[in-house]
Amino acid sequence: MNNKPIGVFDSGVGGLTVVRSLTGRLPGEDIIYLGDDARGPYGPRDLDQVRRFAREIIEYLLALEVKLVVVACNTATAAVLQEAQRDYNVPIVGVIRPGARAALQRSASRRIGVVGTVGTIESGSYERELKRLDPTVEVYSQACPEFVEFVERSEVHGNRIGGIARGYLEPMVEAGVDTVILGCTHYPLLEDLLEEVVGPGVVLISSADETAVEVEGVLERLGWSSDSSSPGRMSFLTTGGTGKCVELGRMFLGPEVKDVIAADLNRRPEINLARED
Ligand code: DGL
Repeated sequence: MNNKPIGVFDSGVGGLTVVRSLTGRLPGEDIIYLGDDARGPYGPRDLDQVRRFAREIIEYLLALEVKLVVVACNTATAAVLQEAQRDYNVPIVGVIRPGARAALQRSASRRIGVVGTVGTIESGSYERELKRLDPTVEVYSQACPEFVEFVERSEVHGNRIGGIARGYLEPMVEAGVDTVILGCTHYPLLEDLLEEVVGPGVVLISSADETAVEVEGVLERLGWSSDSSSPGRMSFLTTGGTGKCVELGRMFLGPEVKDVIAADLNRRPEINLARED
């Protein structure tokens, strides 16, 4: 048993889709979420720079004594996961391996599509992971640079985003994929629209849900699950403006996003994780 919090971070609010899946599966766990809104989005950035940002945030979360870190950003996972797992002394879970594993479990045709940011797709991380698990699989990758800005404007339906989504996804459907990995933590908010675009014969995989399964497995293996019977407490931190973070955070997670703390990565914040009951 270990009742320390789980640390979760993303370039902004997208990782809250992972928090949503975590709270559904592990309701007794405390969570500290940090969105790097001041420097996000990471997708168009150089991966070396993303790696530096991610290490800075992991060290900040470790100073807050988290028991496990979830890199709830595909771009940051592509940039830092391997070296972070080697360099830090707590379990670090990314979003790419869980998504790849789930896609392989679902795909009969062994043709799998991956959509993500430019950084994630250009890193080749999904393709490498899929082929490591099954060398026979065919991977169709597509960077979707416009999706994040549409999601952040709450424009998740309508002709404009529909047309863009068809442009990105129809070629891989025509190539015969039966499974598409949503390789960006923003994309679960586009799931309804993307389901219409790919049609009923194609399964969409959310890396958020699969990551929560992986976190649960790691905590169980270590005997580190919380033994609390009351709901876990969530703390939200941002390196950017707290107002925008509350507004967008509610769209991604719900009304529980209310008090957002401004985080200065050079100073340790006071976070009260006391339970309300
Ligand atoms: N949340 C990021 C990811 O999963 C997408 C946003 C960004 O470009 O930083 O890759």
